Parts: sequence; C-alpha cells; structure tokens
Amino acid sequence: MASISLTLLLFFATSIYVLEVSSNSVIEDLNNQHPPPDFNTTIANKCLNNPSIRYCNHTSADIPDIFKSIIVAEHLCNESKNLGCPDSFTMINLQNRPKIAPLYLSFNFFWKYCPVTILSIFLSNNSIEGAFPSDIFQCSQMEALDLSHNQLTGDAPIESLMSLPNLTFLNLSYNHFSEVKISDTQFFQHFNSSSFIHSGLLPDYHKFTLKAVFLLIGFPLFVILTVGFWSFICFRRPDYLPSFLCQRRKFTSAMLKAATNGFSGRNLVAKMGDLEIYRGTLRDGTEVRIEIYTQRISKESSIKFVEECKVLVQLQHENLVQVLGWWGNRRSRAIVTEWTDGENIDTWLSYSPTWKQRLQVVMGVVEGMSYLYEQWPELEYDLSTSSVCLSKETVPLISRFKVVQEDNSTHTQESKVQITISLFFSTVSIAFSNFSGVSEISQFGVFLLEIMSNKCPNNNITQSITEYVDWTSTNYPENVWKVIDERLKKTGITEDQAANGIGLALMCIDRSTEQQPSLVQIADAVTMLYDSVVPATPNRKRRPHKERGKHERLQSR
Ligand SMILES: *[C@@H]1O[C@H](CO)[C@@H](O)[C@H](O)[C@H]1NC(C)=O
Ligand SMILES: *[C@@H]1O[C@H](CO)[C@@H](O)[C@H](O)[C@H]1NC(C)=O
Ligand SMILES: *[C@@H]1O[C@H](CO)[C@@H](O)[C@H](O)[C@H]1NC(C)=O
Ligand SMILES: *[C@@H]1O[C@H](CO)[C@@H](O)[C@H](O)[C@H]1NC(C)=O
Ligand SMILES: *[C@@H]1O[C@H](CO)[C@@H](O)[C@H](O)[C@H]1NC(C)=O
Ligand SMILES: *[C@@H]1O[C@H](CO)[C@@H](O)[C@H](O)[C@H]1NC(C)=O
Ligand SMILES: *[C@@H]1O[C@H](CO)[C@@H](O)[C@H](O)[C@H]1NC(C)=O
Repeated sequence: MASISLTLLLFFATSIYVLEVSSNSVIEDLNNQHPPPDFNTTIANKCLNNPSIRYCNHTSADIPDIFKSIIVAEHLCNESKNLGCPDSFTMINLQNRPKIAPLYLSFNFFWKYCPVTILSIFLSNNSIEGAFPSDIFQCSQMEALDLSHNQLTGDAPIESLMSLPNLTFLNLSYNHFSEVKISDTQFFQHFNSSSFIHSGLLPDYHKFTLKAVFLLIGFPLFVILTVGFWSFICFRRPDYLPSFLCQRRKFTSAMLKAATNGFSGRNLVAKMGDLEIYRGTLRDGTEVRIEIYTQRISKESSIKFVEECKVLVQLQHENLVQVLGWWGNRRSRAIVTEWTDGENIDTWLSYSPTWKQRLQVVMGVVEGMSYLYEQWPELEYDLSTSSVCLSKETVPLISRFKVVQEDNSTHTQESKVQITISLFFSTVSIAFSNFSGVSEISQFGVFLLEIMSNKCPNNNITQSITEYVDWTSTNYPENVWKVIDERLKKTGITEDQAANGIGLALMCIDRSTEQQPSLVQIADAVTMLYDSVVPATPNRKRRPHKERGKHERLQSR
C-alpha cells in the first residue's frame, strides 16, 4: 500500500511540475501555472499518506493557495540545495542571497502551508529590513533558525521563539532589535550570548563601556569644568553674574584690570608713592575712580581695611563721595568710588566764585556733616579745602573718611584704634597725622574761614593755623573787610554777612572757650546767612538734615 501511494505521489508530482522545467523564475511559474482538474485528488492522496501536512484540513477555497505554495516549495527546495526535492525538503538555505530571500519571505501562502519536513531556516546576511518576519513561525517544527546579519528592527518575538518546542539553534546576531527586558532572562539561558552578538537585544558591552567611561570620566569632568567655569566667574568676574547673585561691593583684581584696560598708563590719573589712582569704566558703564595702595600691611590691618570698607560703602548722601566697593589683600588694596569730574575747593576758589555760590557749597558741606553726625558718629572725615571736592554740578562732596573703632576695654580718646582710609584727590596737602585730633566743628570753622578769605593757612603746621586764626580774631569784627577775599566784595557781600560768617568760623574754631556751636546751630546759622543773600521763596525748601535720618543702616554693628 505504501509503495503504491509513493509511486502515485511521484507520478503526480512529475505530471504537475513537468511544465516547470522550462520556467526559470518562481514569479513566472506563479503567474502561468494553474491547478489541474485532478489537483483535488492529488492533495487528497498526499494527505492520506501524511495527514500532518498543513493543507490537509483545507476547504475548496484554499486550493489556489495550496497550489501556489507547492510551486514555491519546489523552487525554494532547489534554491536551498536540498536533495530529492521537493519531498526531502529539510532546509531553507538562503544565506547571502539578498536578492531572493526577501521575495520568498513575502510569499505568505507558502509559509501558511510550510512543509512539515523543514527543520532548518538559514536567512543570514540578506539585508532583510523591518520587523521580525513572523510568518516563519508557521514552520513550528523548525530546529534551527539563523537570521544573523540583517537589518531587523523593533521587538524580537521572544515568546514566539520560546514556544517553538524543537528550536535548538538560534542566531539573531548583527541586527538592530530593541533591547529586551530583564524579565526575559530564561530565554537567554536557553540560548547563550553568542546567539545575540550585536543584535541590540542585550546591552552592548562596548556601549556599556562607553557609558561607564562617560559616567566615570566624562561626568566628573563635566562637573569639574562647570564648577571651574562658575568659580572663575564668581571669583574673578562677578560683574558678569546677574545682580542678585553677586556681591556688588566686592571687586576682584580681574574686574579692576578690565575696568582700567589692564591698568594702562592712559587710565592712570596720579601716582604718589604707594598710591596709584586710575580712572576706569565698569562693565555696566559706570565711570569710577580706583585708588590702589601697594603698601604691604599686617593681617590685622587688612581685616580692618575690609571692615572699614564695609562701612564706607554704606554711606549714601549727595554731599559724600559714593564709595562703590573695594578689593584687597595684604599686598595691595583698592577702593573704588564714583568718578567726579570736578576739582577740589582750593582750585575752585581760584576761579573767584560768588558769595552765593560759596554759601551753597558751605550749606552742602553742613548737610553732609549732619548726615554723618546722625548716621555714622564713628566716622571721622577731613574738611580741608583740598580734600572736599566738587561734582560737575558744583555740589560739594566730602571725600576723605576715617573709621574710628572703639576699643572695648577703655573708652578714652587715646585708646581709639584708628585706621585711615583716605580718598585722595589731586592735591594731597594734609598729612594723615593732622587728620585726627581736630574736631570736625573746628575743621569746619577753618573751612568756612578759607572759603571766605581764600587765604590758605599753611596746613602742615598747626602752629601756623593758630597764628592765622589769631590774626583773624584781632581783625574781627572791626576790620572784617581785611579778612575776607577781596573778590567777594564785588559779588554783593554786606559787612553784616561778612561779620556773621567770620564770627561763625571763629566760634567753631575756638575750642578753648567751650562756646563751640553744635552742628544744628551751625546749620541754622548758615541757613540764615544764605537766606539773607537769597531771599527765601516759598518754593525754596530749607533742607533740614533731620530728613536724612531715614537712611537704613545696611549693616548692624
Ligand atoms: C474538489 O473536490 C470536491 C469534492 O471533494 C469538489 O466538489 C470540487 O469541485 C473539487 N474541486 C476541484 C478544483 O477539483
Ligand atoms: C487546519 O488545522 C489547524 C490546526 O491543526 C487550524 O489552525 C486551521 O485553522 C485549520 N484550517 C482549516 C481551514 O480548517
Ligand atoms: C529542481 O531541481 C530538479 C533537479 O535538478 C529539477 O529537475 C527541477 O526542474 C527543479 N525545479 C525547479 C522548480 O527549478
Ligand atoms: C554577506 O554576503 C556578501 C555577498 O552577498 C558577502 O560578500 C559577505 O562576505 C557576506 N557576509 C557575511 C558576514 O557572511
Ligand atoms: C519535535 O520533535 C519531536 C521529535 O523529533 C517530534 O516528535 C515533534 O513532533 C516535534 N514537534 C513539532 C512541533 O514538530
Ligand atoms: C554557546 O553555545 C555553543 C554551543 O551551542 C558553544 O559552542 C559556545 O561555546 C557557547 N558559548 C558561550 C559563550 O557559552
Ligand atoms: C551567530 O552569527 C555570528 C556571526 O556570523 C557568529 O559570530 C556567532 O558565533 C553565531 N552564533 C551561533 C550561536 O552560532
């Protein structure tokens, strides 16, 4: 029986495919060949012989597809170099056949009726693109599958592969699958890693190494560079930071260098021993005066310098030079103040200003003094005509200050630790030693006397000031015209006003009689004098110094 059916089978097979000998292409055969009338019977007989054949439970509608699948199987069996095609069809071997492999994969009617004899499917190195060709799972009996060296992408059908009971060889290497989840480890125990080399399924060792290298070296390097960059900005050029981030008052040497074009000679205004004065422009366009002291100082002095600067930057008054900030270490220090184009009072007096202009300047100085008296009693300042300067708008600016720090143990004048910061102006005529000891009221007296007389007492020796004051006293009040600046007479000063002015100055200077007026009295007297020159109008407000008491102390000490 078996031999009869085998003979029949061979007979039918030969009769069916006799035409195909001449055709050289599977496409042509598929187009030209049609099931013979007895095809029905043929497959029925085959199924009788082997019921496991996939088309055996077919319906009549399936006949054309079954016929076509047999044509493809015949071709594919030959292409795969099987012996005894198509009956001994055990292997689909289309390795390195990129022209025809995708074509055969596209014949889904073939895969639907995948011959049960096929055990191995080799499709490596065919540039097959796209998703995994899941039609091949129809050949559920397969034992070996090689899809290596293709361009497959997307998820690998791990579950379908696992459900192939007889699959013992698998190669998915050299593809571009998506990485699988850790939960599929059972699959990777079944097939070892050589099945998935560069498949994308497993984390790539080289990629991992690269990531590790990046994490171990690149990331720290990135952090170091970032920190370095911001440190550079913070410590060297904080003026590049947004204003809320940086301490505006503290300058850096790099900032000063940038402001002065690298401390260029063109920016150098004056040089006196250890002191250099530069004119500079900050990044925001502010014109500044930069005083650089290159004298080496002790650590304690350096600390005091900073403390003093912290006080000075808080001074806010229109009659005080605005201190913008500082920079410093023990070797050198700098103080940055606003740039004022004007000159000092000495120079200004040589242009013979009018009586009214001189009084305006005196009033400004008194206001500055009142502010300092109320807000910063620990600050001493210098009122010599060479140190008070004028802004472009002829507003007087007190420019030299000294912070007097009380020693807590004793409170006597002698025990005061004094450090001096001098904001020099073009002429430096008063030595530091003369700065202290003389009360501000007395200094103001001399200042007023100088403004009115334009006779500069020899500043270097206290003795000469005394002589000068004595000489003034002998001429007061009878010969007051002798004392005051000749040129003042032409600008409308009355003898009364002259006498009042000189009288006020002498009262301020005279410390012995303890009749020195208070600052409030001085302010009143100067205002009265001014009102007698410029008749008070309802619009001209007296600027009481009390108004300035509202300034908030930025730093509590
Ligand atoms: C196949 O056989 C069935 C009966 O089994 C018949 O009805 C049908 O017409 C046949 N078809 C062909 C294509 O011979
Ligand atoms: C043939 O049988 C298989 C299972 O053996 C089944 O999946 C398939 O649907 C059946 N085909 C037809 C046409 O009945
Ligand atoms: C397959 O190969 C055999 C033997 O070489 C040949 O007789 C047959 O015509 C071939 N079939 C096809 C479809 O090429
Ligand atoms: C892939 O096939 C080409 C020819 O199509 C061949 O030159 C190449 O060596 C093959 N590569 C591999 C890895 O088998
Ligand atoms: C797997 O192989 C065994 C033994 O060779 C066979 O009996 C079984 O039918 C095969 N399974 C499939 C699904 O082909
Ligand atoms: C993987 O398995 C094959 C046999 O299937 C074996 O020759 C090879 O050494 C194994 N490789 C690894 C890395 O385990
Ligand atoms: C899979 O193919 C690659 C490349 O051809 C090869 O290096 C690897 O050994 C193969 N894996 C197995 C399990 O044969």
